[in-house]
Amino acid sequence: MAQKQKYRRTLNILEKSKKQSQFDYTEVFRHIRTNIEFSNVDNPIKSIAITSSQPGEAKSTTSMNLAFIFAAKYQKVLIIDCDLRKTMLHKYMKLSNSYGLTDALINYGKTHRFTDEYFQTYQHPSFSGLLYVLTAGIHVPNPSELLSSDTFKEYMKVLKQNFDFIIIDCAPIGAISDAIPVGNAVDGTIFVVSAKDTKRKDAAQCVDLLKRSNVNVIGSVLTKADSGSGSYHYYY
Ligand SMILES: Nc1ncnc2c1ncn2[C@@H]1O[C@H](COP(=O)(O)OP(=O)(O)OP(=O)(O)O)[C@@H](O)[C@H]1O
Ligand SMILES: [Mg+2]
Repeated sequence: MAQKQKYRRTLNILEKSKKQSQFDYTEVFRHIRTNIEFSNVDNPIKSIAITSSQPGEAKSTTSMNLAFIFAAKYQKVLIIDCDLRKTMLHKYMKLSNSYGLTDALINYGKTHRFTDEYFQTYQHPSFSGLLYVLTAGIHVPNPSELLSSDTFKEYMKVLKQNFDFIIIDCAPIGAISDAIPVGNAVDGTIFVVSAKDTKRKDAAQCVDLLKRSNVNVIGSVLTKADSGSGSYHYYY
């Protein structure tokens, strides 16, 4: 019973979208997964960051939906909340945030030993196994410094060795640069564009900034597009 309540919020997000139209969102995200998998044949993408230009453009929702669709195919999938200034994943997923990424980084910086004690697990009817979750963790005064640190880079390398696929929910790049060091530590970054909220010029400037910062922008997901075909689209 308690478990059912735990998943209700996420289900609601998906169901709300489904009710808005007859569009099959699972199919859309399956297509996005395939495009990510085939975006680089020589060096397969195994870790992605999600960012956008401004707050509220559906980065966290997109990150979760991608995590669910990857968890339906791969055994060990991890989603990380790297928006350390506006921590939301644990709220959307009804999980605790008494420990998480920041705690794991502080511990790894001291010990250089990988431990799984900072991960939580999550179940959802759309996949049979478990999704691993690293919530944001204890509030830190210096998120940029932490995400730009060598400890973060090293920790990401260790995570990549321990998981089949990693999805990272980032802060918007328009006001703060936290998504840059995260983008540099993953294989590819997806730029979310909201049909309702995003200004074309802002999006172009942000993508340009990411590319100039050596972030591998592999594509975009268009959210909140109120067309007959539903509110998620994607393009590369
Ligand atoms: N495809 C969609 N269509 C319409 N509304 C959506 C869609 N996806 C998410 N939303 C709504 O948009 C709002 C913002 O979503 P979300 O928290 O995922 O955005 P975000 O980009 O992560 O925001 P922030 O930058 O504040 O972290 C929420 O109220 C959510 O329910
Ligand atoms: Mg968010």
